[in-house]
Amino acid sequence: MKHQLLKILTLLISFSFLLSCTNHTIDDISEEEEIIENVTYQNVKGTFDSQCTSCHSNPTQNGAPMPLVNYQNVKEAVMNRGLLDRISRQEGEDGLMPFGGPRLPQSTIDLIFQWNADGLLEN
Ligand code: HEC
Repeated sequence: MKHQLLKILTLLISFSFLLSCTNHTIDDISEEEEIIENVTYQNVKGTFDSQCTSCHSNPTQNGAPMPLVNYQNVKEAVMNRGLLDRISRQEGEDGLMPFGGPRLPQSTIDLIFQWNADGLLEN
């Protein structure tokens, strides 16, 4: 009798371990989906800081017409200054940004388009 109780207890403990493992896996998957579904300014800011603000600073340099140093600047440029078009132009094509090239990696361009599709969220 005592022996059987012990068996049941062992089974129960193993089961709860299994369950906690399963839960953990589901958590991980939904976290990954969140990252893909909601690109925010925080995910693209690094690109603008490193690739654009040498000219699009505040005040601007080298004849750049507007700054791209913060969320408002960049959002405004996407909506009213054709930013998406400028970064999508082909290597060597007039008006490509960054000015004078090289073109941004396609994966970076895709991420900025995804940011726009997700509603240009700040955070
Ligand atoms: C080496 C300097 C330089 C860099 C780096 C640069 N730009 Fe520019 N940008 C300019 C100049 C000069 C103009 C104005 C001439 C033109 O419109 O092509 C301009 C114009 C633009 C315009 C059009 C603005 C308007 O109102 O017509 C956009 C959008 C733009 N840049 C975005 C970017 C983005 C995004 C980056 C980074 C990925 C970037 N630029 C990097 C110099 C630069």
